[in-house]
Amino acid sequence: MLGYGLSVQKEFIIHHPSYSREALTLGVCDYPEQVPSRLWAEDARQQQELGLRYVRLTEFTWSRIEPEPGTYQWTWLDTAIKTYAAAGLHLVLCTPTAAPPAWLVAQHPEILPVGRDGQVKTFGSRRHYDFSSRIFAEHSRRITRALAERYGQHPSVVGWQTDNEFGWGDTAQSFSPSARTAFQGWLEQRYGTLERLNEAWGNVFWSMEYSGWEQIPLPNLAVSEANPSHALDFLRFSSDQVAAFQDDQVRILRECSPGRFVTHNFMGFFSGYDHYRLSRPLDFASWDSYPTGTLEALHEWKLADADLALTYARTGHPDLTAFNHDLYRGMKGSGSGAPGFWVMEQQCGQVNWAPSNPLPADGAVELWTAQAWAHGADTVCYFRWRAAHMAQEVLHSGLLRHNSTPDRGYSEVERLDLTNMPLAPMSARVALLHDYESLWIYNLQPHAQRLNYWAQTFAYYRALRSLGQDVDIVHPDSDLSGYALIVAPALTLMTPERAARLMEASAHARLVFGPRTAFRTVSGRTPDDGQPGDLTGLFGASLLNFDSLPVGLEQRIGNGGPLHTARAWAESYALHGSHATHFYQGGPLDAQAAVVRYGQTTVIGAHSDGLIEEVLGALLAESGLPVQQLPEGVRLSRRGTTTLVQNWTESPVHWQGIDLAAVSSRVLHKTEVLV
Ligand code: GAL
Repeated sequence: MLGYGLSVQKEFIIHHPSYSREALTLGVCDYPEQVPSRLWAEDARQQQELGLRYVRLTEFTWSRIEPEPGTYQWTWLDTAIKTYAAAGLHLVLCTPTAAPPAWLVAQHPEILPVGRDGQVKTFGSRRHYDFSSRIFAEHSRRITRALAERYGQHPSVVGWQTDNEFGWGDTAQSFSPSARTAFQGWLEQRYGTLERLNEAWGNVFWSMEYSGWEQIPLPNLAVSEANPSHALDFLRFSSDQVAAFQDDQVRILRECSPGRFVTHNFMGFFSGYDHYRLSRPLDFASWDSYPTGTLEALHEWKLADADLALTYARTGHPDLTAFNHDLYRGMKGSGSGAPGFWVMEQQCGQVNWAPSNPLPADGAVELWTAQAWAHGADTVCYFRWRAAHMAQEVLHSGLLRHNSTPDRGYSEVERLDLTNMPLAPMSARVALLHDYESLWIYNLQPHAQRLNYWAQTFAYYRALRSLGQDVDIVHPDSDLSGYALIVAPALTLMTPERAARLMEASAHARLVFGPRTAFRTVSGRTPDDGQPGDLTGLFGASLLNFDSLPVGLEQRIGNGGPLHTARAWAESYALHGSHATHFYQGGPLDAQAAVVRYGQTTVIGAHSDGLIEEVLGALLAESGLPVQQLPEGVRLSRRGTTTLVQNWTESPVHWQGIDLAAVSSRVLHKTEVLV
């Protein structure tokens, strides 16, 4: 073993020799309930032959497991499990709560979630439940226990996935009567007195002060924007509801299925709850990777012109996918003691849910799988085995076509050389700090047309990746001791404890902050003495002015070298001991500090790709980290002593003496590594 697991994983490893392995393993998501049982044995045989080791199943099977209240039908699932087991496959079972059956909704319509428009959502797709419903929580525990008691000790069952993609379909928050009552109770617990709540939220502002807990509404239907402090606490509350719902399931799974792992399949860039909190009881985090679908983020954040979006239409953008690998790898901490992660659903053909759904380029499935490995994945499971013959996702590809012939992704999986993908530990020297509370409060008042928390954070990540860096994405309150460079692109929410830790980190690392850092305190108010509040000592500077730039209005920045252009956001600083390395030129911020430097700390006030890249490049070099200026679409990722070099474009690239075919990867061993 590679010194890899946490204690729970070790226990699991003892029970399941399948885990003491050296290289990436593969799996697939399968739905035996959707195909005739005469196909099962051949499917399982073929899965095994293709080199798949894991099959994930049961996340949408509640109506087949319990077709009527209290009547369980296990025979079909017993047979399916027996069939996979006989073929030597290991099983990851899911609690089936993502799709409550129609009879339960008919019996208890109050379990349905309520949207932000106040409308009750209906039965007829999935995720139609409210995390605040005590009745649904009871049914969730019941069905989890029933499934876990039946299969929890089965020798082929190696792990569990809780539910499926918590929050999908904008369901992490529900605006129901039960949510409202629970929210009021949660607030009472958090604040103790209404005076404290009124003060924390600043309710005097529009005469919003409460004199009874029951007066507090949900923040969805106010005449204008609700108080952001109110909305922030509702996000915190909703996140806690999701976490508590999952905690119940995890407790039952641990009790009935000892020695198995428990994970959850999160979604790329999803932010409806605190993923660090949800990951706490899990053995490792998993996520569902759909690179061509996620490309939409580039448009949404206006990060790319149409040409760039077309360049990556058939592969997705390398950094969008890598960002999520690094994000979910960091959910349980970083460094050699941290567990890896799984890609629980890996796109292996067309998806069906983006505005257009191009076929992936030849080689894309290999590219995606190798990238997941190089960013720390232990296992990649393809979604799905067969294209569905029915319902919402008939236009979605699987490894097999509708007529059971192998689809394009199948042959790419067949070609993978897993021996080239050893499960070595990761060792990035650059940390990028991320936290959901900063994200929530930032996005509640983005204040600029093209800006949101992810767009700002991703700009720094993309710059680091284009300079050849491996990046750990970690929580700001986690252990930061091993890093040479710590980058905090959008740490909007600051606490005194967090500020003290950052101060400590500056003793061993260089720190970089983006705009709007420490703009707010924990309640969403600004610091009483202005920004950056508790970080003023670390910055040697304070915020002077901030400028929100509409599309087309730009602000220039220079330092005597090349001029940079700020889009969307520009803020300036008053200096208290620090010095400015870049100044604004022209406009209302003319001659004011755009980038300040104070000891180990640098603050970049403008949202400008060129400026971010220049400043990060210089700081990396100062920190002694090798910098590579990579060509468009070429990326380096290191795992252990191997370096993966990839070309994500559809044209061949010759770089540093290496020929990279279109959409291809090369694994370089230590001796060949470029510096
Ligand atoms: C995921 C989901 C799957 C399937 C897939 C299609 O979000 O977990 O059940 O719907 O998307 O791409």
